[in-house]
Amino acid sequence: MMTPEQKINELRKELNSHNYKYYVENAPVISDYEFDKMLRELIELEELHPHLKDANSPSMRVGSDLTNAFRSVEHRFPMLSLSNTYSSEELGEWVTKIEQEVEQTEFVCELKFDGTAISLTYENGRLLRAVTRGDGTRGDEVTENVRTIRSVPLVLQGDDYPDYFEIRGEIFMPYSSFDRLNSEREQQGEQLFANPRNAAAGTLKQQQSQVVAKRGLDCTLYQIAGEQLPFSSHSESLDAARRWGFKVSQHTKVCRTRAEIEEFIKYWDTERHSLPFPTDGIVIKVNRFADRRKLGTTAKAPKWAVAYKFKAEQALTKLLKVTYQVGRTGAITPVANLEPVLLAGTTVKRATLHNADQIAALDLREGDMVYVEKGGEIIPKITGVELGERDAASQPLQYITHCPECGAELVRYEGEAKHYCPNQSHCRPQIVGRIIHFIRRKAMNIESLGEETVELLLEHNLIENIADLYDLRAEQLAPLPRLGDKSARNIISSIDSSREVPFHRVLFALGIRFVGETTAKYLAAHFGNMERLMQASHEELLEAEEVGAKIADSIIEYFADEQNRSIIERLVRAGLKFEAEAKVLSSQALEGMNIVISGSFAQHSRDELKAMIEAHGGKNQAAVAANTTYLLAGEKIGPAKLQKANKLGIRIISEQEFLTMIEGAEPLNTEPLATAEAVAEPTPAPEPPKAEPTTPIQGTLF
Ligand code: IVH
Repeated sequence: MMTPEQKINELRKELNSHNYKYYVENAPVISDYEFDKMLRELIELEELHPHLKDANSPSMRVGSDLTNAFRSVEHRFPMLSLSNTYSSEELGEWVTKIEQEVEQTEFVCELKFDGTAISLTYENGRLLRAVTRGDGTRGDEVTENVRTIRSVPLVLQGDDYPDYFEIRGEIFMPYSSFDRLNSEREQQGEQLFANPRNAAAGTLKQQQSQVVAKRGLDCTLYQIAGEQLPFSSHSESLDAARRWGFKVSQHTKVCRTRAEIEEFIKYWDTERHSLPFPTDGIVIKVNRFADRRKLGTTAKAPKWAVAYKFKAEQALTKLLKVTYQVGRTGAITPVANLEPVLLAGTTVKRATLHNADQIAALDLREGDMVYVEKGGEIIPKITGVELGERDAASQPLQYITHCPECGAELVRYEGEAKHYCPNQSHCRPQIVGRIIHFIRRKAMNIESLGEETVELLLEHNLIENIADLYDLRAEQLAPLPRLGDKSARNIISSIDSSREVPFHRVLFALGIRFVGETTAKYLAAHFGNMERLMQASHEELLEAEEVGAKIADSIIEYFADEQNRSIIERLVRAGLKFEAEAKVLSSQALEGMNIVISGSFAQHSRDELKAMIEAHGGKNQAAVAANTTYLLAGEKIGPAKLQKANKLGIRIISEQEFLTMIEGAEPLNTEPLATAEAVAEPTPAPEPPKAEPTTPIQGTLF
C-alpha cells in the first residue's frame, strides 16, 4: 500500500510525463479524459494533505485568482538583443566579417519567434523563477503566470542538468489561441489584440495566472546561460535542453557557408506561412562557444549572432469602397473593400481600417491604388496609397456621421479612437449583440438558445431585449421553425437555471460598455449589490479596483438610461441575483474598528484588503473621520487623507502591520470566504539562489 506522499509523487511523475508528450512532443499517449482523471486525483490528494503541496506540481498549471505582484528582478546575465539585417547583402557582409575573424566556423540557423523573451531559472531541476526581458538588465518576475504554460517543464527530466542555470527563449501565442482569444474579445466588445506578439506580452503580464492558463501560450527555448556549462557549442546545448524536457525548435540547421544560410532563409520565407505560430525572421548564430568568445559582444548585442528580418508581404490593389460595421457595443469599424489580390498565400478582399483617424492619416480615397500588408497581423491592413496612380478628380473620403444600421447620429467619446452609435436600444446589431452577449457561457450561460434562435425570436417579435427572455413560455417557442417541444423545453429550463447565476456574472452579462468579466467581479465585490452600484457617484466608482474615469462614465451613463433601469427592474422581478453572496466571518479581530484604506499596496489589492477587514468584523470607511480607528496606508497615499489623520491623531498602520493584526486571529469557522480574494495569502517570495550571483561576464553566457 502506497503512502499518500508516494501516491502524490507517482501521480506527479506520470502527469509530468504525459504533459511532456502532449505539449512538447505533440504525441499524446492517453486521452484527455484519462489525464483529467489523474489530475483530479492528484488535486484531491493534495487538498487532503496540504503539507505536501508543491509550487511545481502539475496541479499548479491551472493558475490562481490571486493578484500577481510582478517584482522587478535583476538578470544575472544581461539579456541582450540582436542586430538586424534586412537584405542578403547586409547578411553577406556579416558572414564575411565573421569568417575573417574565425576560420571554418559553423553557423546555426533558427526561426525567429515573434513573441516576448523570457528567462527561466532552474535550481536542482525545478523551475525557480521566470523573468521577462524588461530593459535587458532588470525584468519582471512572472513565475506564477509562466507555470501555467504547459510546454514549460516544472521539473526536468534526466540527471545531467547543472544545479543552477538559466534558459532563455520566447513565449508566443500560436495562431489558434490568438484567433480564439480575439473572437472572445470581439464578442465581449473588448479591444482586440493587434497581433499574436502583443497578445503574448499582454497575457504574460495578466494579474491573475488562471487567466493566463486559459489563453494557450506556448514557449520555445533557444539559449542556455550559466557558469561552467558542459557544452562546447550551441547545437550541443540545444540537444541537452531537449533531453531535459524543454521545447526546442526542430527547425534549426547547422550551416557552413553563406549559400547554405541563404537557402535556409529562402525556404522559411515562404514555408513559415504554414507554421501554426508567428515568426518574423531567421536568427543566425555562430555555433562554437570558442568562436563566440573570440568575437565578443557590444553593449547591446552579441557580435556572434544576427537576425534576418522577413519583409512584410505587400500587394498593390484598388480600394473599391469603404463600408462600416456596427459592433455589439455600437463601435463603428470602417472596412476597406478591395479588388481581390493574392497576398501571402491567400486572396485578400477586405482590410480593416480601424477608425477615422487612420483613414485621415492615409488620406484614403475610394478608387485609390493602395498597399496592403500582412505583417505580424492576421487581418491585412492598408499601409499606404500609390499617389502616382490617384485619379485627379478623386475626393477625400467623408467619414460617416450617422449609423449605417439605424441612422442615429454617431458620437465619439473622449479618449476613444472609434465612433459609436449611441442608439443602444433600437439599433439592430446592438440589440442582437447584447442578447447574444447576455446568453454567453461566461455570462448567463443560456447557450442552448444560440445565436440563430435569438435571431428567430427577434424576427417573430417574441423578444426585444434581455428581460423579455424571462417571460418566454415553451408553447411560444415550440411552433417556431427548427425548434419543437424538446428544444423549447430545454431553452426554458436553461433560462430558468440562469436565475442562479451569481451577481458578478449578471453584471457582466448586462453588457455595460467597458465592463468586462474582471471589472464586473471587482464591482460586485466592492459594492455588494446592484442598488449600491446604481447609486454610486463617479468618485465612489473610482474607488473600486481597476475602475478608471472611462469605466465610471460608462456605468453612470448606462444607469442614467431609463430603458436600462426598467430592464433591470424586470430582471429583479424575474428573480436574477443582484446581490453578492454573503461573506463568512473568519474572526472578530477587528470588531468595532473603522479602517480607512489609502494608497497602493505591495501584497494585496485594495478590494482584497477591504474584504479582509470585513471578514474579520471591521468596517471599511471611505473617508477619515473622528471615529476612524486606523488609516491603513500604502504607497502614494492621498496627502489630504494623511493630513486629516495626523490632525485627528489617528494611528497610521502599514499593510504588514495590518496583516499581522489578523494573522493570529482566532478563526470563527473553517469555511472559506465567499470571495477567494478575501483569503489570499501573500505570494511567497521565491527563494534567492543559493550560489552568490557573480558579476556577469560575457564568457558565462555559453
Ligand atoms: S537569441 C543574445 N534566438 O528576438 C541573443 N532570439 O530581436 C539572444 N528571438 O530578444 C537572443 N527567436 O526575444 C534568439 N531563435 C531565437 C529567437 C530570438 C526570437 C527574439 C528574442 C530577442 C529578440 C531580438
